[in-house]
Amino acid sequence: MSFPEFSAGAHSSPSGVSLPKVTIPALSEMKRQGKPISALTAYDYPTARLADESGIDFVLVGDSLAMVVLGHQNTLSVTVDEMLHHTRAVRRAVHRALVVADMPFGSYHGTLAEAVANAVRFVKEAGAEAVKIEGPRVELVHAFVEAEIPVVGHLGLTPQSIHRMGGYRVQARTADAVLQLQADAFAIAHAGAGAIVLEGVPREAAEQITAALPIPTIGIGAGPYCDGQILVFHDLVNLAFAPPAKFVRRYADASALFRSAIEHYREDVEHRAFPSDAESYHLPESARRIIQIDRDDADAVVNPDAREEMNQQANYR
Ligand code: KIV
Repeated sequence: MSFPEFSAGAHSSPSGVSLPKVTIPALSEMKRQGKPISALTAYDYPTARLADESGIDFVLVGDSLAMVVLGHQNTLSVTVDEMLHHTRAVRRAVHRALVVADMPFGSYHGTLAEAVANAVRFVKEAGAEAVKIEGPRVELVHAFVEAEIPVVGHLGLTPQSIHRMGGYRVQARTADAVLQLQADAFAIAHAGAGAIVLEGVPREAAEQITAALPIPTIGIGAGPYCDGQILVFHDLVNLAFAPPAKFVRRYADASALFRSAIEHYREDVEHRAFPSDAESYHLPESARRIIQIDRDDADAVVNPDAREEMNQQANYR
């Protein structure tokens, strides 16, 4: 086996500039250089491809998939197989960004061996380059790293803990809770996590933890001082059908755009304005000659003797 380039490869940005493949060590290097890390969720080929081609560094196949794609009330019911299916689609689309897959609720809550076996599936069967797990599960982070599976931690508001938290509530609102959060972040960093998502925590807490940690923090609802930021794609483009959280900035209104396109299409169909002649296939002249079109009642009368010859000429072009 040879390693001709000894690198993970390079890919072009929208401006044609060649950008190196994003890896877990590259994220730490970005932190060291003070370069903000852009992260976004994606769950399918087209959105992942757009994210990658737009220069996003870190694409997360989030278990938010359960809510924004599959229509569930929370993230708890999405399965490993569903997450694998979507991770594969994202993997096919992404060349430069780091592809991280969320491990769904229940897939890492049993024995360490079961959790490692599930994590291996994300890398081996779906092409994930890291998995993300929620909570300060230090032993588990260690076990994944031992199994050569890079891990992203997720602390603060952890949506898989919705029942314990009593809802999606901002976490770490007292000095003690901030100190505990910081201790948890240190513990999973020390166990080998490559980065930590900090969700739904006061900006001051995120700032202090970010400054103290050796690995990057990626914030969502955690203020401006994290090493990177992540948003859910459907929030970013207004496709989530729910009032946005305070931290969401909508950069486009895809709901309005798609709704108007769909309504326009339906009207065109109803008014027979679609398809036009230019959007229709045409018989070749030779076949046209053996068919009489009665344009008044739009009925095609085919000369039976010529039917066979016409069928042979028909081509889906
Ligand atoms: O599932 C998800 O989308 C996430 C992000 C909110 C970080 O975990």
